[in-house]
Amino acid sequence: MPESITITDNRTGETIEVPIVDGAIDGAAWSKLLKGVWFYDPSFSTTAAAESAITELDGENGILRYRGYPIEQLAEHSTYLEVAYLLIFGELPLPAELAAWTHEITTHTYVHDNFRRKLFDPYHYDAHPMGLLTSSVAGMSTFYPDAKNIDDAGVRTEQMVRLIAKIPTLAAAAYRFSVGMPYVFPDNDLDYATNFLAMMFKVAEPGFECPPALSKALDVLFILHADHEQNCSTTAARVVGSSHADPYSTVAAACAALYGPRHGGANEAVLRMLDEIGSIDNVEPFVDAVKEGKGRLMGFGHRVYKNFDPRATIIKKAAYDVFEHTGKNPLLDIALTLEEVALADDYFVSRKLYPNVDFYSGLIYEALGFPTNIFTVLFAIPRTAGWLSHWNEMLEQGSRIARPRQVYAGPAVRDYVPISQR
Ligand code: CMC
Repeated sequence: MPESITITDNRTGETIEVPIVDGAIDGAAWSKLLKGVWFYDPSFSTTAAAESAITELDGENGILRYRGYPIEQLAEHSTYLEVAYLLIFGELPLPAELAAWTHEITTHTYVHDNFRRKLFDPYHYDAHPMGLLTSSVAGMSTFYPDAKNIDDAGVRTEQMVRLIAKIPTLAAAAYRFSVGMPYVFPDNDLDYATNFLAMMFKVAEPGFECPPALSKALDVLFILHADHEQNCSTTAARVVGSSHADPYSTVAAACAALYGPRHGGANEAVLRMLDEIGSIDNVEPFVDAVKEGKGRLMGFGHRVYKNFDPRATIIKKAAYDVFEHTGKNPLLDIALTLEEVALADDYFVSRKLYPNVDFYSGLIYEALGFPTNIFTVLFAIPRTAGWLSHWNEMLEQGSRIARPRQVYAGPAVRDYVPISQR
């Protein structure tokens, strides 16, 4: 059977045969035959917007791989910084490369104090940390004007190092600002996850103590969130980056997209939902209300995963590891019952709605002591490596500016009516 499709324009009888390559047909061939006829696909559900060698996601079979490596193996054996290297450069680093990369990231964690002060101080004390993070990342473009030179691979790498290194510093500063606590400077003797925990929670000098199992759990969460191919925020980064905006503006756009409750904001929404349910007795009435269209079951469903989200499986196990140290999160029993009730209900089964990465991550974050409004920031920190790897890949490929078409549905031409005659 030929790996192709045949398109016939019934208006003219003209026909073309278009090869199917890697499960896709070339849109350019389509537009050659059918000029001015567009695919109507507002949510990009059937559009491949990129050719990418970074992350492979098979939603039917629950498969997630970074550069070919299964997420399960990376979560068990790797570290977030090694995974960030893998995503950006395409291969696992050699020992010397990893040491140099870790050194580079570690020595770029500082954010100029003037910059941080000037940027955060105008905000109200209870500003949402995600808003602070988004604006501070955008503000960094004014601090590093050389970043505009996006055609220079060396300049691009320098900005990727700066962003991955500084985003935990900005994130922790945003949190401390929102709770009125003094900023904690990065400690370059600590690993990436532990340094972030110290900047978040350190109260008094000299040290910050954290059981290694807890910083390991956070590092695993960072690995699981590092990339997820063409998701909403990565698409936002690609669209903005395709205009050749600098990487800080590009990542700020991605942060803004991540903020929404359908995407990275879902982990915060899950916790609020579990709080609202309040007790196991209320689970069934809550599920009934969802089925009646009164809201959604947050942390359930995914555009691509239609069987299970492999990240959710790993996170559920990590949750138990964390609870061994912190004690069980009291919301866990509600979450487990909710999952059980939903997975036995035809409404969710028939729509292929399963727990996603956000269903259990919030419970871990809460057990680690993070307040709910910082959860999406905890997603943004590791996803920075994913956004940047896609941005870098896109620029290496020499892509064109993203500029979709529309189906115009407004009024036909009409004459302006002066206000006195309306
Ligand atoms: N609870 C109840 N019903 C749902 C849910 C849900 N969480 N998700 C989808 N549905 C229903 C939806 O109402 C629709 O039903 P019907 O066919 O009767 O109209 C059907 O399932 C298909 O939904 P959809 O909105 O067309 O699906 P989508 O692919 O556009 O949306 C989603 C994907 C993730 C935005 C959605 O499932 C959702 O809103 N989930 C809750 C938010 C959430 O957990 N987001 C985190 C996603 S994973 C982390 C990330 O990558 O950001």
